[in-house]
Amino acid sequence: MVARLETIGLSKRYQDVTALSPTDLQVQDGEFLTLLGPSGSGKTTLLQIIAGLVEPSDGKLLIDGKDATRKAAGERGIGMVFQSYALFPHMTVWDNVAYPLRMRKEGRAAMDAAVKDALEMVQMGAYAHRLPRELSGGQQQRIALARCFVYKPSVILLDEPLGALDKKLREHMQSEIRRLHKDLGATFIYVTHDQEEALNLSDRICLMNQSKIEQIGTPQAMYDQPATVFSAQFIGYSNLLEGTLEQGATGLDTLRNGRFSLPVIPQDASQTATRTLVVRPENARLANPESAYLRGRVDEVVFAGSDIRVLIDIGEAEPFLLRCGRREAPLVGDIVGVSWQRELSTVLTTAVAV
Ligand SMILES: Nc1ncnc2c1ncn2[C@@H]1O[C@H](COP(=O)(O)OP(=O)(O)OP(=O)(O)O)[C@@H](O)[C@H]1O
Ligand SMILES: [Mg+2]
Repeated sequence: MVARLETIGLSKRYQDVTALSPTDLQVQDGEFLTLLGPSGSGKTTLLQIIAGLVEPSDGKLLIDGKDATRKAAGERGIGMVFQSYALFPHMTVWDNVAYPLRMRKEGRAAMDAAVKDALEMVQMGAYAHRLPRELSGGQQQRIALARCFVYKPSVILLDEPLGALDKKLREHMQSEIRRLHKDLGATFIYVTHDQEEALNLSDRICLMNQSKIEQIGTPQAMYDQPATVFSAQFIGYSNLLEGTLEQGATGLDTLRNGRFSLPVIPQDASQTATRTLVVRPENARLANPESAYLRGRVDEVVFAGSDIRVLIDIGEAEPFLLRCGRREAPLVGDIVGVSWQRELSTVLTTAVAV
């Protein structure tokens, strides 16, 4: 199957700054792909090259298998919603949404029908005659989405469209966006630096770091099998334990340092001996200190609503974070043991990033 969008060695340099290193990416028809990453990692640059707003330094962009690298922005059939939704302040909601169609010299009847549809899609039909300043932030954001959807682009790029909204409104708009994606059947590329938002919305997440793709995969795969320490730290919370791999008889590999010896699933010995073990807080449990994998003193016990977060000093630079039920919660100062199922931990070959 031909990908809807494909980049081949696509890159962008500004004098001595590499905004995007050569990037290969495929986006399938109807997919919801999220570009996730810290500030300055190249997310907006990649989106703008796809939209045709920034010219790449090198590489190719294919749309439906055809070279579109030099195609004008207006001819790509791509819609874009920016972080600051920038509605025209002196125009009503209706005129704002109609604007892209006016630019295309769409006929009156077709235009009216399309604007009506787009406003209904974002459940703002009743607000057509208001001015942007008479709307809440979330309502303005919906109008910005309607203005993009009105000409039915089959590829929609969204650059942090919910950045300006508070948490509750963000969550509400996330479910709106999920619904709109389903209704429209369009391909969405969505930029955020909020990992929770990426996990909630996406078919696949493309994690970016320092102008490169760090890892790409489904939310579940990114969470359960982080490929690098950066991924493990950026998506969800990770306890990182560094040590030296020692191979035992079949199935008895261990990771050791002066303070612990942890059983791990069998490893490929050809890589470096220094490894980092990733243990998610919800996969660890309190255990008898005499026989547990780790032993330490409880530093902090934090009530977190549905569960309790326990920070345990295990003699490493960082305390170990564990989540447990309210009834099992230990007290600060208790000596406790920590264990987990070794199948639920991940061994990485990369050194811990500093
Ligand atoms: N027009 C430009 N001129 C020079 N450098 C630029 C330009 N645009 C972007 N950059 C640089 O390229 C890098 C990537 O920028 P980009 O805007 O793609 O990051 P981003 O991942 O979208 O970050 P943010 O989350 O802050 O929006 C940054 O180091 C940025 O300073
Ligand atoms: Mg950006």
